[in-house]
Amino acid sequence: MDIKKKLSEIIALHTESSGFDAGFISNLISVPPDEKLGDFALPCFRLAQKTNPKLVAEDLREKILADSENAGFFSEIRVVGAYLNFFLNRGEISREVVSEVLEKREKYGRSGEGRGKTVIVEFSSPNIAKPFHIGHLCSTAIGSSLSRIYDFLGYDVVKINHIGDWGTQFGKLISAYKRWGDRDAIAADPINELLKIYVKFHAEAKEHPELEDEARHYFKLLEDGDPEVTALWRFFVDASLNEFNRMYRLLDISFDSFAGESFYSDKMPEVVDILEKEGLLEESDGAKVVRFDDPNMPPCIILKSDGSTIYATRDIAAALYRKRHYDFYKNIYVVGTPQTLHFKQVFSVLAKMGYTWSSDCVHVGFGYVRFPDRALSTRNGDVVLLEDVLKESIAKTREIIIANGTADQIDDLDKACEIIGVGAVLFEFLKNGRERDIIFDFAKMLDFDGESGPYVQYTYARGRSVLRRAAEAGITFGDADLNLLCEDNEYAVVKVLEKLYGTVRDAAAKNEPYIVTRYIIELAKAFNKFYNSTNILRSEPDVRAARLALTDACTTCLKETLHLIGVGVVEKM
Ligand code: ARG
Repeated sequence: MDIKKKLSEIIALHTESSGFDAGFISNLISVPPDEKLGDFALPCFRLAQKTNPKLVAEDLREKILADSENAGFFSEIRVVGAYLNFFLNRGEISREVVSEVLEKREKYGRSGEGRGKTVIVEFSSPNIAKPFHIGHLCSTAIGSSLSRIYDFLGYDVVKINHIGDWGTQFGKLISAYKRWGDRDAIAADPINELLKIYVKFHAEAKEHPELEDEARHYFKLLEDGDPEVTALWRFFVDASLNEFNRMYRLLDISFDSFAGESFYSDKMPEVVDILEKEGLLEESDGAKVVRFDDPNMPPCIILKSDGSTIYATRDIAAALYRKRHYDFYKNIYVVGTPQTLHFKQVFSVLAKMGYTWSSDCVHVGFGYVRFPDRALSTRNGDVVLLEDVLKESIAKTREIIIANGTADQIDDLDKACEIIGVGAVLFEFLKNGRERDIIFDFAKMLDFDGESGPYVQYTYARGRSVLRRAAEAGITFGDADLNLLCEDNEYAVVKVLEKLYGTVRDAAAKNEPYIVTRYIIELAKAFNKFYNSTNILRSEPDVRAARLALTDACTTCLKETLHLIGVGVVEKM
């Protein structure tokens, strides 16, 4: 149930004739800072037009209360100055909300607003033959969560990994391989070995510039489809993807398409053609570029002076392909803010080409990862690998659980540590607005009492343990009288449960998974307050049943919202 929506509709019945519909009312309604002022408040200034807002408030109150349909919904409506303060009937709200959660279970909060619309979420998109470092987790975690959020809202979601598998650097890699490559060593440890020969290439090319020509030659062969060179390139790509897939498995992330840059290599002549025909291409130092009217926007290079295409050309081809192939409603790129200008250029070129859908392309940026206690890259150029971070988190989780003395109660300790350790990292990455930098701190991430993944997972496990004990004692609550959930701490949980609809909608509208993470923290806190303030199992039987139902609703909602940010749960910890 969406209470704010329902309230807006009730009010709008009496304001629509003056031109204020439910949407308008909904935007005016706020939640008072103090519970004593009611569940919701409506300022009547803007509804008053030329009359006195207090009179408008009084008149609205009369009309709403006179409608017998609303009898059970409100316990009180107060006029305070020019405001209407609404006190809802707690028992009624609790019954509606909790019964809806228990009926819909993990589908609670889902909606069909996206039905029939396709949203593309492009994320992760690492470069072949380069290490998968901790910075890549931003795009990976945010994109995966957004894809789950849009799916929750009923959109058809297409998850694309636009891997960096094309460009002149592959000419260099092939040249390096031909000179110093060791196939078995690469197969065994692809990223490190490829990186090693790539670095060596750069060092040697300083002394022997002719190596650069050789690399260009190999890239040309690759572009022309030379079988031997193509087979080598395939080998590099597959070996790298094998490594990346290990990360994706650990993170429980999948993709619908790995169509990366190489996929568009044969689709670029068309882009150049269209630009040519539309008269948008201009010469600039031998290169061909598209210029913009905005003097602050540097031109977008389409063809380099040697006639080869670049990153931006491939992105234009990719957008065209995606529109034709998926007919997207939204095409989202989860890529760091350093590429903001790049996407502005790409989207502007598409607009100049006359594609009105260019405004449906969205760049979702994010900040940097920083370590308070170590550098992101070490002296010899090594980066902090994602895999190392996840392994460290899993190992530290195990230490904490052993120190807490609960290890023997957990059925599969390895699996539990993996879910908690990986979840802790994901949770931390999705806890704040995405454009803020992430300060990486294991102690905070794994603090079972802080605003962390483990804290929420622990809250879930606590709730599940109460439900298990009730089941063992033969206590059922299927027919609980949910109207009894009226105490402050119970009603507070109900109100958070109720907010799920609006929360997910808001997260999608802003492309901000942290809005869901904050909700999860709020729900866990409300549940813990309720849990700590009462002995659920020792309550009177009818109260006990209602409280068990609330516990069931709450754990169900925690599990499904954690899923929205890619974090799993454990039954015991
Ligand atoms: N591979 C690129 C990088 O690591 C990110 C790709 C972003 N996506 C895109 N369509 N350009 O920087």
